[in-house]
Amino acid sequence: MENQSKKVTLFTPVKLGKFELAHRIVLPPLTRMRTVNGFIPNDWMVEYYSQRATKGGFLVTEGTVINETGHGYYGAPGIYTDEQVAGWKKVTAAVHEKGGIIFNQLFHVGRQSHRSLQPNGAEPIGASAIPHEDLVFTQQGWVPAEPNRALETAEVKALVKDYHQAALRAMEAGFDGVELHGANGYLIDQFLQDGTNHRTDAYGGSMENRVRLMIEVLEAMVDVWGSDAVGIRLGPSGTFNSMSDSDPIALFGYAAERLNELDLAYLHLIEPRINGNIEIADGLEPVASMHLRGIFKNKMIAAGGFDQAKAEDILEKGYADMVAFGRHFIANPDLVFRFKNGIPLASYDRETFYGGNEKGYTDYAFYEAYADA
Ligand SMILES: Cc1cc2nc3c(=O)[nH]c(=O)nc-3n(C[C@H](O)[C@H](O)[C@H](O)COP(=O)(O)O)c2cc1C
Repeated sequence: MENQSKKVTLFTPVKLGKFELAHRIVLPPLTRMRTVNGFIPNDWMVEYYSQRATKGGFLVTEGTVINETGHGYYGAPGIYTDEQVAGWKKVTAAVHEKGGIIFNQLFHVGRQSHRSLQPNGAEPIGASAIPHEDLVFTQQGWVPAEPNRALETAEVKALVKDYHQAALRAMEAGFDGVELHGANGYLIDQFLQDGTNHRTDAYGGSMENRVRLMIEVLEAMVDVWGSDAVGIRLGPSGTFNSMSDSDPIALFGYAAERLNELDLAYLHLIEPRINGNIEIADGLEPVASMHLRGIFKNKMIAAGGFDQAKAEDILEKGYADMVAFGRHFIANPDLVFRFKNGIPLASYDRETFYGGNEKGYTDYAFYEAYADA
């Protein structure tokens, strides 16, 4: 009996950093490219986040661009102008109204960009100048990224300041905390992994040097928020956006050790069984969580290919403390209610993941009994 009562489920309350959460179901960052002007969060976005907020539930925003060079997806929101902050204030107010906790995912795409998305049509920037042909989203639609140049050392320092500024603006916008996007082949990941980092300065070469940018940016975020309102997302062994590392197990193990020094609220992992938003090996064990659970000492959120049963399984085994559901949350605004009541899930429509309007964004149906709950 005693064991049974201690069993952890998706509905066991949990403390995440300084927050007492009512359940363990997370809305992960989902880029939906719904801004239409000035990368400013709009009323569709207020509605979208409000629909998915629950009392004591944890939400992370879509990747939110920290400065003008950070764009790689036209329509993705920013957090570097007063108008963007004002737009986000409406989102955070609506989520708080429902009793939710919302973090802002700070995002810079690095090399995953295009001149048409850069200030004055400049070359995109990244850790190193290495050719690749991953797709980015411009005003003309999906096109291959354009060649990037490598950042000068002084420019890397300036970027840390931009993250600091973005963290301050996120506070002004009413968020509860910030998450650093360190996954999926964007700027921080490009510095971490040696397939994309060929630098010879203090930010390249050894693992210690390659984690330097991640640590400096997190220190800047902690400076604003305190460590208990800062998290990070990593994608160990993920290959999305042409990523690779010669020894990912050593690299991400070392990164997790270094993260321990910062005493962050959480580490949010994307399992390598997901490539971007496509399953590459359904059924594969959550290997990233299994590996890093033994190293990272604070809370861990697992993401990538979870349904309710797989989520309950990873919680029971203790490899993660919370579980994020990306595509299911897109199609089921009342996902928490459905899990709680064993209601079948609606299916998502990939065609409306990115760009467009309310269609496929705020018009997914709530289960009919939801209103009475
Ligand atoms: C439409 C879409 C947009 C995404 N945008 C982001 C993003 O902005 N930042 C991020 O860290 N992950 C992003 N992801 C990854 C998701 O957060 C999540 O890790 C992934 O969908 C795997 O979870 P799932 O199998 O539950 O969908 C995105 C995924 C999808 C489907």
